Amino acid sequence: MHTMKKESFKQIFRELRTHKRLLLKANLLAVVSILISLPIPMLIPLLIDEIILKKSHYLLDHLTPILGAGREPFVYVVAVLVIAIVLRAIFLSLSALQSYYFAQVSKDVTFGIQKRLIDHISKVSLREYENFGSGKIGSLLVVDLATIDSFLGVSVNKFIISILTVIGIGAVLLWIHWQLGLFILILMPFIAYITKKIARKVGEYKRKENRIISEFQDELGENMELFWQIKASNQEEQMRQKLIQKADAIKHASIDFKYRSEVAAMFSYFLFLAGFEIFRSAGILSVEYSDLTIGKMLGIFGYLWVIMSPFQEIISMQYAYHNANAALERINTIYDMKPESHYPHLKNPFEGRRTDSITLVDLNFSYDEGSEALKDITLDIPAGSKVAIVGETGGGKSTLASLLVGFYEPSSGDIRYDGVSYKEIGWDIIREHTYLVLQSPYLFNATISYNLTMGKEVPKERIEKAIEIAQLRSFIDSLPDGLETLVGKNGVKLSGGQRQRLSIARMVVADPNVVILDESTSSLDVQTEADLFVALSSFLKERTTIIIAHRLSTITQADQIYFISDGRVIESGDYKGLKAQNGKFAEYITKGNRC
Ligand SMILES: Nc1ncnc2c1ncn2[C@@H]1O[C@H](COP(=O)(O)OP(=O)(O)O)[C@@H](O)[C@H]1O
Ligand SMILES: [Mg+2]
Repeated sequence: MHTMKKESFKQIFRELRTHKRLLLKANLLAVVSILISLPIPMLIPLLIDEIILKKSHYLLDHLTPILGAGREPFVYVVAVLVIAIVLRAIFLSLSALQSYYFAQVSKDVTFGIQKRLIDHISKVSLREYENFGSGKIGSLLVVDLATIDSFLGVSVNKFIISILTVIGIGAVLLWIHWQLGLFILILMPFIAYITKKIARKVGEYKRKENRIISEFQDELGENMELFWQIKASNQEEQMRQKLIQKADAIKHASIDFKYRSEVAAMFSYFLFLAGFEIFRSAGILSVEYSDLTIGKMLGIFGYLWVIMSPFQEIISMQYAYHNANAALERINTIYDMKPESHYPHLKNPFEGRRTDSITLVDLNFSYDEGSEALKDITLDIPAGSKVAIVGETGGGKSTLASLLVGFYEPSSGDIRYDGVSYKEIGWDIIREHTYLVLQSPYLFNATISYNLTMGKEVPKERIEKAIEIAQLRSFIDSLPDGLETLVGKNGVKLSGGQRQRLSIARMVVADPNVVILDESTSSLDVQTEADLFVALSSFLKERTTIIIAHRLSTITQADQIYFISDGRVIESGDYKGLKAQNGKFAEYITKGNRC
């Protein structure tokens, strides 16, 4: 038993480290861009001190050699304005480049996780997949992965930049006026924290609303899919009531959300503004009681706007980490699905042979602990023979068919092809040569042609022959696009009988050594079914064939019939012999409703 490696932050950070160069480049860019952005909020306000109040001349002194002495104030203002705008443009371009680098790294890590998950899912056994559910896999691979992705985006990209920005601006504030700077740096995180907390609360309401909406969607989806059945069983009223009830729940949740989130947003904004007023008052007091100039004070107000969001980003990291951790745990449940057993290709009993014998030895299988679906099945099916399996529904016929192609793994016992155990052949090789035709075939939303060949290169004659045998000729000829007709999702554009015939044609195209037909003609009318079996007979002649069927016509010809009940073979023999035995089989066929 090998245990699957799960995803962890350790692993994620290890992968981040493999992108050292890119991260280094991006971080260097971040430092440069932040350094460039630091003076911007100060530039224009300084002109108040220098041009209007004429208290200092730091900027003017530096500009005079460039602009020439004795210029009008207008020239200086425009020059500083141009500098500020150019610096902002450079800052934005560098930020864009750096977020492109960061995105490359974080998306690569997310892609890595997704790839490993898809790899694992492709190896999972059918049984595990059935228990897990396809819907859940979808939401894990999309929604939860997006949570991790956004955490990575925040952590690799914004976190470092936010910290650098806070440090940079913090240093500038302290340098301009350390008392006021310190006051801001202490109070600001509180405001950021509380506003963030409020935003989170709003998020909770939003999630609650989303959950109710998605419940409504599920309910609606199911009802629309089953609309036929709902009509047929006069359930419209129940459906209407259920849907309206859900819609009503959405209404209440939405009102709740809207009201509370608006109040919260208003409160959060109030807090922000109040903080701002406090800082402004502190600014004025600093001008009055210390050496802070008016221009610098206004500059500090400019920094207030810039420093708020990095604080919020840093705080939201903690939540993003929390969410990502939970998402990671959920995603890891995918690795709890065990992979299908992989057996080495030691022998290939199918190679160079037209067909093979099948031997089942003490075969046992259970879907769930405790209740056995197949019990001690021992059968010998000679190569090239025709075998019928009959029995009441729920007896275990389809289960047996599924085991023969390894959809499920036997609990104990052996399945042998030409005397070779499946453990020495490998399920992939077995499936290449043993074809199970299902009662409700799965079709891809693609052309008829694709569904026949499954995308493989197949000679035209083989396709034509398969169409002939499966009694599809006149149907396909009647289609304007012929073989290139799209069948729709799961073949909705075809009738049940057409789907079954397409599935039989697919089997003929696959040209297997062993054929298993599990009620695969149940939707055909008696005449078409009879025609099909006549056409199929020469194809099946030299191939071992197992037919699971209800209709008498399809089993009377069988070399051997097995009657299965409650997971056991209770009677066997040819048709005449079994009938004469006057046992369960005889009782079953004389009931008349089936065979
Ligand atoms: N995917 C499944 N998961 C759990 N139990 C199953 C599954 N498929 C069939 N069963 C159970 O196994 C038994 C045999 O079913 P099946 O092989 O489909 O019978 P048959 O094809 O003879 O009608 C039934 O009791 C059925 O409820
Ligand atoms: Mg069945």
